[in-house]
Amino acid sequence: MEATDSADHGARDTTEAAKTATDGAATAAGAGGQFDFIVVSNRLPVDRCSPEDTGCEDGWRRSPGGLVTALAPMMTKTDGAWVGWHGAPDETVKPFSHGGIDLVPVHLSTADIELFYEGFSNATLWPLYHDVIAPPEFHRTWWDSYRKVNRRFADAVVHHAAEGATVWVQDYQLQLVPKMLREARPDLKIGFFNHIPFPPPEIFAQLPWRRAIIDGLLGADLVGFQRSSDAGNFMRSARRFLGASVKQQQVHVKGNDGDTTHIARAQAFPISIDVKQISELARKPEVIERARQIRRDLGNPKTILLGVDRLDYTKGIRHRLKAYEELLADGKVTVQDATLIQVASPSRERVEQYRLLREEVEGTVGHINGTYDTMESTAVRYLHHSYPIEEMVALYLAADVMLVTALRDGMNLVAKEYVTARTNNDGALVLSEFAGAADQLKQALLMNPHDIDGLKDTIMKAVNMQPAEASRRMRAMRKQILDHDVDLWSSDFLAALAEKVVRDDS
Ligand code: G6P
Repeated sequence: MEATDSADHGARDTTEAAKTATDGAATAAGAGGQFDFIVVSNRLPVDRCSPEDTGCEDGWRRSPGGLVTALAPMMTKTDGAWVGWHGAPDETVKPFSHGGIDLVPVHLSTADIELFYEGFSNATLWPLYHDVIAPPEFHRTWWDSYRKVNRRFADAVVHHAAEGATVWVQDYQLQLVPKMLREARPDLKIGFFNHIPFPPPEIFAQLPWRRAIIDGLLGADLVGFQRSSDAGNFMRSARRFLGASVKQQQVHVKGNDGDTTHIARAQAFPISIDVKQISELARKPEVIERARQIRRDLGNPKTILLGVDRLDYTKGIRHRLKAYEELLADGKVTVQDATLIQVASPSRERVEQYRLLREEVEGTVGHINGTYDTMESTAVRYLHHSYPIEEMVALYLAADVMLVTALRDGMNLVAKEYVTARTNNDGALVLSEFAGAADQLKQALLMNPHDIDGLKDTIMKAVNMQPAEASRRMRAMRKQILDHDVDLWSSDFLAALAEKVVRDDS
């Protein structure tokens, strides 16, 4: 599981061999085990694997990503568990332990995947929360499934939470869980973190179930967001749609009898990455050599530009390709001098908008390459794959210019990974102002990806940037990230959740 996009998305293996191995896996958590700290997310932080895969243990392998790395020590220290879907439809897997973490799998049927996951989560909420870049669809059957599945996750937590436990619910797929937990278990400390943007009330207003969603989130003691604008949007929606009185980002939440049950707070906690892991990889001789080899394989062009995204319409891949094609047409870049590597990891392929996007992106890449490639050189090297983190870091090291052109993005961890990997303080980051990372990486070349001329100018500025300026910018960005890694993010959130809230009744 990776709750917020970063470079690598391990391929999910659902082979029979893996299934058999799993059925025999340890059941340390036991069906009735109780825990003091529980993380809940749609996906568990493990992927299916086959015995020959590296890191495969009993048919499972820890999925890459900062969140699990940040929380793993906490899990082992505090008697913690992770509740989530294990990635295989229609399969019931007993609680088990992997890599020192107790895991409680939640069952999702084929119908749940279609209605709750592909439907309400990824064809209603995802586009709605990302500025309606694609039109959200509203279907009552999807909503019914969302409620039902959220209830199942909440029940699993209720069953496994010790008295007074802390529960941290992750992301937009589970927004009803905080209130469900509050009602069933008022003894719990409940946190929620939204990894994606929260839309302004004018857009959120479209959702037929807007009140229930706000109400669900307000079940938490602390609702965390990536940017302070997201926290502000949420509070404005709470005021507008529930008539909540909001003071200093706090809401006194009332129960059915009209008495205040608790105070819900909203606050920004910008997520980060596992800085240590990326820095170490970036210094490994094998990874450095692999980066050189990538450059050689591409014919040692003067400039390598890189895009790394899940193949998602929020990432602005089409805008990036359009700008790049125009630069080739204008003769500002040539295939002899420059190559754009575009890694697009497969994602949500059964959702219509994602299918359409793939066709469009692949059509455009084919068109660009057909027009500009020579026998020796290519304009765009397009890779529709996921890669392990070692290969991603080699790509970051090979790239002179990183292009992050998201039309809307909660954070964008790829931007942070690129900066962290540039241990020599060289390279240039072109970063969309619509990505949450723009709040922290102010020395990036910030731009509006809708402005194609502006994007082209910014790309050229990055390509021609003088080493002294590149180094000044990269140093400042690296300092920001090195001082704010994902450990700090999780400890800040959990410290704020543990704080005693002073009631401001004035
Ligand atoms: C985003 C979301 C995550 C999600 C990830 C991958 O980062 O915030 O919650 O897990 O995308 O998407 P998927 O649909 O494959 O879980």
